[in-house]
Amino acid sequence: MKENEVLKVIRGRRSVLRFDTTPVSDGDLEAILEAGRWAPSFANAQPWTFVVVRDEEKKRKLGQVIERIAFAHRGQMALSGKGFGDAPVVVAVVVDPLKDPQHHIEAGAAAAQNMALMAHSLGLACFWAGLARKGPEEEVRKILRLPRGVRVVALLPLGRPAYTPRDGERAPLSEIVRYEVLEK
Ligand SMILES: Cc1cc2nc3c(=O)[nH]c(=O)nc-3n(C[C@H](O)[C@H](O)[C@H](O)COP(=O)(O)O)c2cc1C
Repeated sequence: MKENEVLKVIRGRRSVLRFDTTPVSDGDLEAILEAGRWAPSFANAQPWTFVVVRDEEKKRKLGQVIERIAFAHRGQMALSGKGFGDAPVVVAVVVDPLKDPQHHIEAGAAAAQNMALMAHSLGLACFWAGLARKGPEEEVRKILRLPRGVRVVALLPLGRPAYTPRDGERAPLSEIVRYEVLEK
């Protein structure tokens, strides 16, 4: 298989749930936001706004919202809000359905992943906190004073990882790729 820097960054990115208190520099944050800005979107609608949160109280409240959402995913707890309190910065990826009624969620997801990859390439880390349900999204709407109608695609607590995460795991290509048609 061909290997290059992009694939290395994609493979090496891990979700990190604890951060140390080293601040994220303005330069690093700007580069991460710039990576989000260059995500693709339907008809280049760019339906996103990135809300940068540094305020301790807001970060703590966002973490509490995520902590309360719990569901079992393949037997593991897939959700955690632990990192929000100590992450130096949280970026909320917010999208506006009025700017793109059909594909706003996908566009926001592309922007969030671009930012996660950029963060990793800078020696930072994050995890993608999804809100999963309307209730938590309404709580975040209040904390961040979001206008009615916009959707929160992801909350990304960002910082220097406080530990070395375990290696990632993915199903092999042979399991997830089919050629021409899917049915057996
Ligand atoms: C849409 C989406 C929602 C997620 N929500 C959460 C979350 O709320 N809390 C959390 O701890 N991780 C969350 N994750 C992170 C996944 O658990 C993680 O990406 C997955 O286990 C693979 O691990 P890796 O990112 O280290 O490769 C989410 C990821 C995605 C893409």
